[in-house]
This record gives sequence, C-alpha cells and structure tokens, in this order.
Amino acid sequence: MSSSSRITHPAFRAKVTSAAQAAAMIRPGDTVGMSGFTGSGYPKAVPIALAEQIEAAHAKGEDFRVRVWTGASTGPELDAALAKVDGIEFRLPYNSDPIAREKINSGKMDYFDMHLSQVAPMAWQGFLGKLDVALVEVTGITPDGLLIPSSSVGNNKTWLDRADKIILEVNSWQSPALEGIHDIYYGTQLPPHRVPIPLLRADDRIGSHYFTVDPAKVVAVVETDSPDRNLPFSAPDASANAIAGHLMQFFAHEVKLGRMPENLLPLQSGVGNIANAVLSGLVDSPFTNMTSFTEVIQDGMIDLLDTGKLRMASATAFSLSPEAAARVNADMGRYRDKMILRPQEISNHPELIRRLGCIAMNGLIEADIYGNVNSTHVMGSRIQNGIGGSGDFARNAYVSIFMTPSTAKGGKISAIVPQASHVDHITQDVQVIVTEQGLADLRGLSPRQRAQVIIANCAHPTFRPMLEDYYARALKGSYGLQSPSLPGEALSWHQRFIETGSMLV
Ligand code: COA
Repeated sequence: MSSSSRITHPAFRAKVTSAAQAAAMIRPGDTVGMSGFTGSGYPKAVPIALAEQIEAAHAKGEDFRVRVWTGASTGPELDAALAKVDGIEFRLPYNSDPIAREKINSGKMDYFDMHLSQVAPMAWQGFLGKLDVALVEVTGITPDGLLIPSSSVGNNKTWLDRADKIILEVNSWQSPALEGIHDIYYGTQLPPHRVPIPLLRADDRIGSHYFTVDPAKVVAVVETDSPDRNLPFSAPDASANAIAGHLMQFFAHEVKLGRMPENLLPLQSGVGNIANAVLSGLVDSPFTNMTSFTEVIQDGMIDLLDTGKLRMASATAFSLSPEAAARVNADMGRYRDKMILRPQEISNHPELIRRLGCIAMNGLIEADIYGNVNSTHVMGSRIQNGIGGSGDFARNAYVSIFMTPSTAKGGKISAIVPQASHVDHITQDVQVIVTEQGLADLRGLSPRQRAQVIIANCAHPTFRPMLEDYYARALKGSYGLQSPSLPGEALSWHQRFIETGSMLV
C-alpha cells in the first residue's frame, strides 16, 4: 500500500507537503512534541529537514534551536540529526543517542530526564510550559479522519491534544496491520477530577484504536517510507546467561513458596541486552501462560510469544532487532491479537503497576552495598541514558529486581560500590540485585544485613575483599551504625577511576 492510499480523508490529503516545507513551519525557540520511543515510531523526515534549516541559519549567524519532547529515545534521524547541528536547546524525557549524550555531558544541551509515566500528566498540568508543535508519525489516516498510531504510542495523544499545530508523518514502512493493536485511553483527568483507571488485567482494553485530532490544527502531512531504527541485540554472553539462570532459580523458589503463581506475575523487562537475555531464559523455563505489562516489546518477548509461553504483551512501543522487526511486520495480523500498545502514561502507570503486581527487571550502572541504585550517571555526573520507566516500575512493582554484570569497562569498574555516586532508586525500591556472581534477596533485611548479602553474593571476586575491608572499617569508624559509612572514603573509588582509569588500587 502506498502512503498516499493511507491518507484517505480529504482534509488531511489537502495538507500533504514536503518535509522541508513542513519543517519551515517550526520556528526558533518552539517546543516540539515528537513521537518516538526506543527507536520506534519517531518522525524520520521532518527532523532531518529541520536540522538542515537550523544549520543554514547558524551559518548566517542566526540563533535557531528548538526544545524537544518525546516519548523516550528515538533514532538518528531525530536526536542525532538535531544534536549534531546544535539544534536542541532543551530535551526531555529520555535520550540514548551518543551524539546528544555528548552534547548533554559537555554542557551544550539542557536535558531533564523524567519518570516516563509523569511526562503526559505534567504536560497537562502545565508544569512543562507551552507546546507549540506536535510532530507525530502515524501508520495511516482513516476515511473518518482518525489517526492510526505507529509502532510506538508514547506521549503522542498528549502532544496531539496540547499542541497549537500538528505536523504528521505518514510512514508506509509501518505495517497496515498495526491498525487495531493500539489501546488509546482518553479517560485521564487532572486532580481533583481524577478517577481510577478501569484496567484490571494486563490484557484489558480500555480505549480506542485511534487518535482523534482536530483537522484544523493539522498544518502539514508528510509521506515517508522509512524503517524504524532497529538495533540488533548481541547474543547473550556467559554473564547474561548466568544472570538469567539466577533469576530463573529465584522465580522457581518464589513459586514453590506460594509467593508467586505458577504463571508468575505480569513481567516488566527493561532495556538492553541483559533484559533481553533474561526473556530468552524464560523461553527455556517451565513457566507458561505468562503475561507482560511493560514498556517495550523486545525480541525476547516475541520469542516467548512464539513458543506460546507468553499469552500476551502490553507495552507502549516495539524495540526490535531488524530480524525480529521483519518477522513481526510480516505477520502483524497474527501478533496483533497478542499485543497491546498503550500511551506511556498507562503502560507505566504507578496505580496499574501496583494493582497488577508486576515483576520489574531493570538494568543498573552501579549499586551500593546498601542497595541504593544508580541507573543513570557514570561517576555521578556523566549521564548514560536516563531513568526512563525504571522508577515507575521499581517503586510500584510486586518485586523490584535490578541486574548487571558485576564489573564494567573490562573489569576496571565495580558495579557494587561503597556508596552510589548518584541515586535513582533508593534502597526501599530495590528488593533484589542480581549479577553473574549471584542473587541478593534484600526483602526484609536491614542495611547492615543487606551489605553482607550484596558483598557476598553480587560483588566480583576482585573487588569483594576491597568492599569487605571498607565495610569492616565502616563498622568501626562510622558516625552511626544504622548504615555504616566513611564519608571521606565512600566515593574514593570513583575519584580513583577518574584519576587513574581504574577503581582498583
Ligand atoms: N560505570 C561506567 N560505565 C558503565 C557502568 C559503570 N558502573 N555500568 C555500565 N556502564 C556502561 C557500559 O560500559 C556501557 O557503555 P558502552 O556502551 O560505552 O560500552 C553502557 O553503560 C551500557 O551498559 P551495558 O552493560 O551494555 O548494560 P545495558 O545495556 O543493560 O544498560 C543501563 C544498562 C543502566 C545503562 C540501562 O539499563 C539504562 O539506561 N537504564 C535506565 C533506564 C531503564 O532502566 N529503562 C527501563 C525501564 S522500563
């Protein structure tokens, strides 16, 4: 199907234009709410055209930058293209693009990484300022003028509702069979009018298949035929397989004790290779009839759906390798019945995560011996990606699990440190830590008990004696013994890495 035949409503057809003409409608200083979530469903033509216009303006000595809001990370045609020309003044709520990361860490771009569930409500509450333009990729436009969402939903409903003007990209690369997979809930309200969200099970549908927009606000419609940014996952290494193995044992143990049902509880799986490896581990596990209530649908989840072990997957976006994307696109009609894509304020909603009792599994950069977790800032100051949905899930989950290899950067950095150099998840939100060395079940443990279990079960043997030594001295020299610490030394491992390139003495 050509993209032209995907724009069947005359009011929208009349607005079809080039990417350059659409980009010219974005002014310096505008705040642009763009679609996109982990490389799925982001606009692919207008941001590139905008970057060219920004570059040309800069060449003439003009100041031209925009403020960019999205669902989460996007693709190189958006973040990299705009960051490369210093076109982004301010960015929220999540970024994983290396060029944008460099601009942020060198102080050239302001970035506020937010809990993903809070972006839409905060935009509605007016806390984030005015939204000038919504730039949203869709799969098609129905004869009734309804928008068929793309491979991610993210914050698109909010951008389309809140923006003064709307630019649409209609991408014919997206499978037309995506129509019907989405569940767009239009019942959210602001306090004091907020009501419970009527979702009782992970596979409940509570909304519409479409976005509704005021055609008068649509200023341009651009036709594209471009693939999502699908990055391959690396095959699980020994470390990822060991982490998956420890988790499978943990789940079996919880089921045996009657603390989880035999089909487990709705799974949330974070971003990255380890999360994907754990999903692959579930393929070979005895668990069946599982569900997921999560943020992204990764390759591992498709494998689980294919085996029939996962009954359904609820998320806000796809995050697939090229191979898995081709597989899913070719067979979307079949997968559509087993998947639901929702706005991120619903996929990550604290009320729903708590009610459903999700099993949250997320990656980390470092954890300290008391179980405080840093998910975002290397050495306390350089942002890697952002908190994403990890906080939404960790605080509200039935059990909150964090997983990581015990070392980073070729063994020069310990993922278990005396004190986290930045804290995203406080000790109360961290119930289980897993590394390839083992699993620390921290539920019900005091800080001193936690320290012993984390050092013994999770630290790498190279760093374990250093942690034992620090902890023993902290027990003697600490100001208080609730969470023993030596403030003058607690961050010295990070300082040593900054100065010498290694945390090792
Ligand atoms: N010190 C320095 N760098 C570290 C590090 C540490 N303690 N731990 C990880 N890193 C670096 C790795 O070296 C790697 O860098 P590289 O790309 O230059 O090689 C990068 O961080 C990613 O680490 P990796 O080991 O490949 O793990 P990952 O892909 O599982 O990512 C996080 C780990 C923490 C970065 C990732 O999970 C994340 O961004 N989490 C926050 C958001 C989130 O949890 N979202 C899901 C919620 S639904």
